[in-house]
Amino acid sequence: MSDLHLLKERIARRDYTVGVVGLGYVGLPLVLRFGEVGFQVLGFDVDPAKVKQLNDGVSYIEHVPPDRISKLIAARRFEATVDVERFAEADAVIICVPTPLTVHREPDLQYVERTVDAIAAVLRRGQLICLESTTYPGTTEEVVLPRLLTRGLRVGEDFFLAFSPEREDPGNEQYRTSTIPKVVGGVTPGCLDLACTLYAEAVDRVVPVSSTKVAEATKILENVYRAVNIALVNELKIAFEQMGIDVWDVIEAAKTKPFGFHAFYPGPGLGGHCIPIDPFYLTWKAREYGVATRFIELAGEINSRMPSHVVQKVMEALNARGKALKGSRVLVLGAAYKRDTDDPRESPGLEILEHLLAKEARADYSDPHIPRLPIGRRHKLDLASVPLTDDSLRGFDAAVLVTDHAAFPYELIHRSVPLIVDTRNAFRSRGLQGSHIVSA
Ligand SMILES: NC(=O)c1ccc[n+]([C@@H]2O[C@H](COP(=O)([O-])OP(=O)(O)OC[C@H]3O[C@@H](n4cnc5c(N)ncnc54)[C@H](O)[C@@H]3O)[C@@H](O)[C@H]2O)c1
Repeated sequence: MSDLHLLKERIARRDYTVGVVGLGYVGLPLVLRFGEVGFQVLGFDVDPAKVKQLNDGVSYIEHVPPDRISKLIAARRFEATVDVERFAEADAVIICVPTPLTVHREPDLQYVERTVDAIAAVLRRGQLICLESTTYPGTTEEVVLPRLLTRGLRVGEDFFLAFSPEREDPGNEQYRTSTIPKVVGGVTPGCLDLACTLYAEAVDRVVPVSSTKVAEATKILENVYRAVNIALVNELKIAFEQMGIDVWDVIEAAKTKPFGFHAFYPGPGLGGHCIPIDPFYLTWKAREYGVATRFIELAGEINSRMPSHVVQKVMEALNARGKALKGSRVLVLGAAYKRDTDDPRESPGLEILEHLLAKEARADYSDPHIPRLPIGRRHKLDLASVPLTDDSLRGFDAAVLVTDHAAFPYELIHRSVPLIVDTRNAFRSRGLQGSHIVSA
């Protein structure tokens, strides 16, 4: 019997260990899912604090309930570790480490490279390596494969290599890891076969594609599609505003078209790990081929201007009430980039806070999901979330709604703050109107 056949049999029997590297928003739900469908799972992370928390049955991600972790620990099926030599114990190693941009907006693959080098050091026959981190087309074959080949093992025969883009949507109640279809591309047909067999045990639908490049490009298309369409509605919002037309009314009406239109909504700018970052991975790669990605650049330009547009709106609205931004107390509502999540990475809320502070406003923030701002890649704000009470709110001259968390007390805010700049149409959509609400 071939190696591949035996490996597939072991997957079916659950005589198979799945390792996941990078236990963040993507890796943690994934490792738990593999554990829950009966695999022995090993979680790897460089952060010893996270590893300790997990081994103690504690979750550091709000939408991952701790009992999912403790159940697997009690069943002796899950363990977290910082020890990269233990990659050797895993039959499959799935890589979910960060892929940020450098300060020059170029792909920063150092986390992927470091992980792959550590895997290569212990790579053994039969192992499946699968990259999930978002990256430019070509990474798996041009960056990952050569590093693994240094062991003298043959891909597709001795070991297997695939790419499967991560599609996690934190905060989305409708879809879970298991119900989001998984696109998979393999370096060889055997790699594709083994990777699809493994994922099919954990997700309802696997979508095999013809190459790792197609799988990598699929993720980039999905993210560029969002970035460009959000930029489009952001630009239209500003244009329509000048014409006295409310963009939210326009979108609601356009949405009634049953075909050919998908609604995107304007906002205070892009946030998160993906949409503001990943398209630039393609821009960088395209340069190698002498191709310009003008849509991506333009979308980036428009979206990155949104936070200053919002601050301009706050300034104008205060001015109309005879107040200067300088010295005014302004409350930013929402530090997470996305509603009902605790993820502040690249959040426009942080950028708006910085703009406000730079203009000498006395700015604060409130976010029920983020009690204190972590020090991020770009933002170093040492602030704690303001609790929302009638008293605390009455001390502010203005509030800017950046993230429309369901947990905000909208009626109380509406009642207590004299000026509300709403970037999400959150007040009007709840039937809260008034001349002190300004759309931005
Ligand atoms: N968060 C999302 O919604 C989302 C969605 C789609 C795609 N992605 C992609 O998935 C990848 C991971 O994103 P994330 O949001 O889970 O990031 P994250 O920051 O939440 O988690 C990454 C984890 O990797 C760990 N890590 C860093 N370097 C490591 C190394 N060398 N070895 C082991 N662990 C290491 C970090 O400590 C952290 O716990 C990125 O490529 C991202 O673009 C994320």
